[in-house]
Amino acid sequence: MTSGSVTADGRSRVLADGNEIPLLALGVWQVPDGRECEDAVRWALEAGYRHVDTAQAYGNEPSVGRALRDSGVPREDIFITTKFHPGRSDPEAEAQRSLQRLGVESVDLYIIHWPQGGPTWAWDGMQRAHERGYARSIGISNFSAAEVESVFAVADMPPVVNQVQFSPFEFRRGLLAECERRGVALEAYSPLGTGRHLDDREVARIAERLGRTPAQVLIRWSLQRGLIVLPKSAHRERIEQNAQVFDFQLSDEDMAALDGLDQTGGTDSALERPWW
Ligand code: A2P
Repeated sequence: MTSGSVTADGRSRVLADGNEIPLLALGVWQVPDGRECEDAVRWALEAGYRHVDTAQAYGNEPSVGRALRDSGVPREDIFITTKFHPGRSDPEAEAQRSLQRLGVESVDLYIIHWPQGGPTWAWDGMQRAHERGYARSIGISNFSAAEVESVFAVADMPPVVNQVQFSPFEFRRGLLAECERRGVALEAYSPLGTGRHLDDREVARIAERLGRTPAQVLIRWSLQRGLIVLPKSAHRERIEQNAQVFDFQLSDEDMAALDGLDQTGGTDSALERPWW
């Protein structure tokens, strides 16, 4: 299996470091720590998800860890991502704290949450977290094409993913092309536009014709682009619905119509407005 290729079952992708990552993840941004987060993760595992995406900044690593343990699904069957909070100073020490909160010996993926203070200062500590075995793979999030290039210039071990806001409406072609050229897998967060893309007329038209929901159409668009996709929901039926995306195809015409919804001008930026 070569890196960048999607596995035969269409559900995973091989990263540049050789590790395999499930394409569909449950995102738990803004899911409060406690019962709500535990339920969401449990429902996702029951619905067949094998990838959960959390972060130090979300404050819900303890619930994610509890739900994973209580599920009875073997640790090695679940891909766990967490993110270094770049307002803190030491990625290696913060990785250890994440492992304690999650109650696991290592995470599958550890990424810099955003390039606060510049794109390169934290990379050394990320590499140390990898060397120590705290994270099997390391990557970045919210990095533009130029910032990706800066990290490559200093890296012994380059990032294998860049997680960015991505959907037909935020179709950052320039950034995607740069990531693919460098063997960096793109992960799409807010694939539903945090809910606001679900009401779009074009998306609804395609969904209705296919007998699917707008959420499924948007998630499928990312999958057909070979992207890792992280829809967030705290509702059981939506979590289940968002996983029913491997049993239909969008035609070339539908993909092109969705591509045409881009509002970024095909940018190579990761964000229109940084929040830090
Ligand atoms: P909720 O968590 O209350 O279920 P994104 O993944 O782009 O960040 O979007 C997440 C938002 O979309 C949340 O507000 C979530 O609501 C909502 N959402 C997620 N899945 C669905 C779905 N299948 N149908 C309708 N809304 C959804």
